[in-house]
Amino acid sequence: MTEKAEKLEVLIDSENIARRVKELGAQISAEYRGRPLHLIGILKGSWVFLADLARNLDLDVTLDFLGFTSYGDGQSSSGQVKITKDLDSSIEGREVLIVEDILDTGRTLKYLVEVLSVHKPHNLRVVTLLNKRSRRIVPVKADHVGFEIADVFVVGYGLDFDQKYRQLPDIHVLHPAQQL
Ligand code: PRP
Repeated sequence: MTEKAEKLEVLIDSENIARRVKELGAQISAEYRGRPLHLIGILKGSWVFLADLARNLDLDVTLDFLGFTSYGDGQSSSGQVKITKDLDSSIEGREVLIVEDILDTGRTLKYLVEVLSVHKPHNLRVVTLLNKRSRRIVPVKADHVGFEIADVFVVGYGLDFDQKYRQLPDIHVLHPAQQL
């Protein structure tokens, strides 16, 4: 870890993340028991969470990624969307679980649900590791939430600032002075 990363305040440490991801894995395994589950990870932020969650599922799992970006300036949601990687396989008739790292204004998830529903999955649900409920603009809800967090800017465990810090094992707060 760089000296700069060491100075970042820890919001949720890797042990707590691992414990919660294990719980989510057990809940989701119980929910889909006996049925194959198709995970769709939303790039890039969900990559670490998806890898850990998938290994905590006691189910037949397949996975795909959707590359999607919504943040115009690296910090606040612009509401504008851009697909950077499309799905590789059809989701028609499948049990699909969208895997997100963070649910913020809700704009991205609303768009995703609309776009994916058109392809007629049997079932479309959502798990997000982090939920910033106080920031919601669009009324959407995840079926499974790892942690409710306050309105602070977070990095690590897949989440970035200006494409940095994604590799950090803990989730940290990046204060405004550290965003320069
Ligand atoms: C983040 C996150 C969600 C979205 C949530 O992605 O992964 O997809 O923003 O924000 P919203 O609820 O306000 O729409 P981001 O666009 O930062 O891209 P990244 O995952 O590549 O970092």
